[in-house]
Amino acid sequence: MKAVPSRRPRRVGLLTGGGDCPGLNAVIRAASRTAFHLGWEVWGIEDGFDGLLTRNVRRLTSRDVRGILQLGGTILGTTNRYNPFRYPVRRRGALVETDRSREVLRNFRALGLDVLIAIGGDGTLGIAEQFHRQGMRLVGVPKTIDNDIASTVVTFGFDTAVTTATDALDKLHTTAESHKRVMVVEVMGRYAGWIALHSGIAGGADVILIPEIPFDVHKVCDTVRSRERAGSEFSIVVVAEGATARHGRRILREKKEVGREPRLGGIGEWLAVQIARHTGKETRNLVLGHLQRGGQPTSFDRLLGTRFGAAAMRLVAGGHFGTMVALDPPRVLAVPLAEAVGHGRMKKVPLDSDILQSARDMGIGFGD
Ligand code: F6P
Repeated sequence: MKAVPSRRPRRVGLLTGGGDCPGLNAVIRAASRTAFHLGWEVWGIEDGFDGLLTRNVRRLTSRDVRGILQLGGTILGTTNRYNPFRYPVRRRGALVETDRSREVLRNFRALGLDVLIAIGGDGTLGIAEQFHRQGMRLVGVPKTIDNDIASTVVTFGFDTAVTTATDALDKLHTTAESHKRVMVVEVMGRYAGWIALHSGIAGGADVILIPEIPFDVHKVCDTVRSRERAGSEFSIVVVAEGATARHGRRILREKKEVGREPRLGGIGEWLAVQIARHTGKETRNLVLGHLQRGGQPTSFDRLLGTRFGAAAMRLVAGGHFGTMVALDPPRVLAVPLAEAVGHGRMKKVPLDSDILQSARDMGIGFGD
């Protein structure tokens, strides 16, 4: 993919949607700098697609994107609510989902934007794909700490989240060992176990529970007991927020509401009570939560974000709309957006993964 300058100056809109994620600013910086190079204007849309409903946009200059490479979050703001196709509107006292997509299309044209680069997870990219089908020229950039987007081997943000979780596990080891306790650590990842699996292995966990493998609490306790018998009187259990006990239901912090997805969480707390009850061991639970989404991106995520941002602008230059940039090592390439997002497209941990196998070979328990 080579950048081909267009004959007329373009106005490219840039938005970030969904949960914030380390590396977003690296994408914004790289995409903007590539556009400036081509002599194009870049307009930052605030707070995801919401900014196109409220016409909350600002022109980005090189000054705006200077010094942001190492910053977590997004200078454009974001939201993981308010899908314009199912926008929550209050009617007769109740919230109902309303299609406001035509307003978005109208405002996009009124703002004189030629193309949109949408940086987001499956929610934002799913919305982008719908707008593409309605005629909007756009290119998608996948982001998520959860690493659950299909068609790309990895998303930026994942490495930083895994690094943060691994760091926490390193620290918890000393307390677990000194107090001869079981420490349960609940990590994010939604319905995929990538963060739990990678940080669990890198952080030396003894049990890793992921949504892809429903667990039996008695098997988890067996691992704790057999470690004890072998002289290790402590255990570290990493549990993904989306993991479920066999025959059990997914534990939610908040149910699905109009205009937003359910909030996962609470499995760590439940599991800690079960382990303490069945093994008699002192057990503590820690929810890492949004710490995993914050802070400086790792150099891997800065580089991937930079590659994705520049590649997205090259796709714009080449007129390859309706696509998403993706990592297929060693290359960054373009894949059809429709292939990457949508129902049943979520990338889960494959059960035949060598990472999983290596963990099992070393005696790490998966509760099955
Ligand atoms: O998708 C990223 C993510 O951090 C998930 O891992 C988590 O389930 C969710 O977002 C949390 O969302 P919120 O910021 O709304 O609590």
